[in-house]
Amino acid sequence: MDKIVIEGGHRLGGTIDAGGAKNAALPLLFATLLTDELCRLKNVPDVADIRTTCRLLEQLGARIRRPKPGEFLVDCSSVGASEAPYELVRKMRASFLTLGPLLARFGRARVSQPGGCAIGSRPVDIHLAALARLGATIEQEHGYVDAHAQRLEGGHVILEGPSVGATENVMMAATLADGKTLIENAAREPEIVDLATALRGMGAGIRGDGSSVIEIEGVESLGAMKHTVIPDRIVAGTYLIAGAITGGAVLVRGARPDHLSSLLDVLSRMGCRVAREADSVAITMENVPRSVSVATAPYPGFPTDLQAQLMALLCVSDGLATVDETIFENRFMHVQELVRMGADIRLNGHRATVRGLRSLSGAPVMATDLRASVCLVLAGLAAEGTTEVLRVYHLDRGYERIEEKLSALGAEIRREPM
Ligand code: UD1
Repeated sequence: MDKIVIEGGHRLGGTIDAGGAKNAALPLLFATLLTDELCRLKNVPDVADIRTTCRLLEQLGARIRRPKPGEFLVDCSSVGASEAPYELVRKMRASFLTLGPLLARFGRARVSQPGGCAIGSRPVDIHLAALARLGATIEQEHGYVDAHAQRLEGGHVILEGPSVGATENVMMAATLADGKTLIENAAREPEIVDLATALRGMGAGIRGDGSSVIEIEGVESLGAMKHTVIPDRIVAGTYLIAGAITGGAVLVRGARPDHLSSLLDVLSRMGCRVAREADSVAITMENVPRSVSVATAPYPGFPTDLQAQLMALLCVSDGLATVDETIFENRFMHVQELVRMGADIRLNGHRATVRGLRSLSGAPVMATDLRASVCLVLAGLAAEGTTEVLRVYHLDRGYERIEEKLSALGAEIRREPM
């Protein structure tokens, strides 16, 4: 197991690529299960969650080639098995997105229940209720969800909450259902729009993605996929915050300002200069940032996946701010580690109150999930002295060679074996 070692206090400057969005690429890779024709995906990030997904698809019978970096050719014509086992679903909850496609194409799917995770209990009840509305019979036994239906039937689905994963699962399943499906209270994230765009390219009849009502006209079969994954708004946002926390100037190439508007609004209010172009965003932070309170919310609100990173910035800002986490019940695992670095944070249920300080002090820290780990890397960039971030495998799930990218911007950061 490696660790990341950071010598803090270096101002970042320069240009960095956003890369393809992990959370868009994952459902797109699972969507290849819907067709027996060849699927070509470009701009897929080279991160651990993508490798886990490929292993799962191959276990189901898919053949996958990578003709060049970032490009994947997926052939699911020989997929026969329809079981996603515990070993892989346990590693990555998004594996539950095999359920909708397998059920729709083969009439049966057996997928391990994901269980809880570091940020909360994360049930799958909304996914299951939605698929049941399309006529699936669902049984839960021995830790597995067993779903079957001769052919799914279009239906009126009202999601209890705008779950991203449930919207994706039911949207994929409905593309091959008999008749029309209406999804109300759907998630509106850009990753949903990216999936719908790719599915339309395969012949699916989908309208309304990006709004909270999605309409899907089922078809008999879907054709080949040819699609380029959207840029990663969370990775882009993380690098913008890295620039801000070091009082630097960073341009993220490929970042879509329209996907980042809530973060850019907060950064502007904190005193950052923000320059938005069609396919890049740049920030410059010249003064001590001003504290600004935030509450996470479904898109287009402030993303829960940037909450930990913003909190690192608030730790070295001027003033008092509250951070309300409204999406996940237990997503403050980074707080105790930030406190070990000298941060002044008080936790009360879903609210963290952060009093900004002049600086943090480097320390050995560890985190239990992806975004919490990267928040500690950001804190290390701003801290005095050396910070060691342990359990780097969390970071590698969603960030491509983060130490190389931040080094190129002037950070003193390296990966070392433990
Ligand atoms: C996706 C993202 C994740 C992000 C999250 C919220 C991927 C691969 N992951 O996760 O990075 O943090 O959206 O933006 O895209 N819920 C239920 N029942 C369900 C489903 C969800 O109660 O059946 C709850 C969850 O526990 C959570 C909330 O709904 O509290 C939002 O979860 P959801 O939108 O489903 O997140 P994911 O799709 O798992």
